Amino acid sequence: MKILSTVAELQKQLKDMHLSPIGFVPTMGALHKGHLSLVENALNSCPVVVVSIFVNPTQFNDKNDLNNYPRTPEKDMDILGKVLRDTDIVFSPGIKEIYPEEDKRIFNFGNLDNVMEASRRPGHFNGVAQVVSRLFEIIKPDVAFFGQKDLQQLAVIRNLVKQTGSKVEIVGNPIIREDDGLAMSSRNQLLDADIRSHAAVIFKTISEVNVMIKKHDIAEIKIFVENNINSVSGFNVEYFEIADDIELIPIKSKADMKKENRYFGCIAVKAGNIRLIDNIEIELV
Ligand code: PAJ
Repeated sequence: MKILSTVAELQKQLKDMHLSPIGFVPTMGALHKGHLSLVENALNSCPVVVVSIFVNPTQFNDKNDLNNYPRTPEKDMDILGKVLRDTDIVFSPGIKEIYPEEDKRIFNFGNLDNVMEASRRPGHFNGVAQVVSRLFEIIKPDVAFFGQKDLQQLAVIRNLVKQTGSKVEIVGNPIIREDDGLAMSSRNQLLDADIRSHAAVIFKTISEVNVMIKKHDIAEIKIFVENNINSVSGFNVEYFEIADDIELIPIKSKADMKKENRYFGCIAVKAGNIRLIDNIEIELV
């Protein structure tokens, strides 16, 4: 693999190799098996894969979160070195390469900008759209791989591609979990030991929803999810919503579920000081 940090080097390398399709996996580093599943998927279908590692400041609405975000560059290179081929590229740019000037673009994602993550993290998806559109512009990938772990982000990216008329194909990959069910996340390493030992309650609880939905309506299910998780010391549910995966419109009643849509139970939990998100597909009954 090649490790490149400037736009000029990256573009020259891609031009010289002249391989297609170009696969792209954007990340913020602190890599784990969830990231690797995207990389492996890309390797299976693309003769050249670019993995970017860039902790994008414009998507952090909380400065502390940005400062505390885990950074493990050496370990990341080790991990990628084991799977990437000679033709593949790790793109690890400095901030000026991505934002030579301040990015003042404001995107409009409609409802996606108002619900769940968007309402708790103002400006977050605008920052994600800024960096992803900039990376698309630099790399010009044919296919880009994202995780369903960040379901709302995936919907935002699909919307961005539609809005901008971009030709990039967006592939969504399933959530990779720890043995106890906790969705893998770079932030998991920030959990203190006691909180980590109880964190399986999140996935266990949202998994119950597929059983409960047979007999109960949404309001009762929401109360169950909140009470069950909040009963564990140190855990506090920020939201639990059942929504479609395109517009992310939270439903109030089972009667609102349409056959042609897919629905997901989406949750954000404060686990100690760390915010975790997860989701599960809800089967229509
Ligand atoms: P990051 O959190 O590093 O995640 C990079 C990609 O890995 C995202 O598409 C995310 O959904 C996926 N991912 C993370 N954990 C996963 C898991 N357990 N299973 C499957 N996929 C998982 O998301 C970002 O970075 C940034 O917002 C980014 C898109 C890079 C823009 O800065």
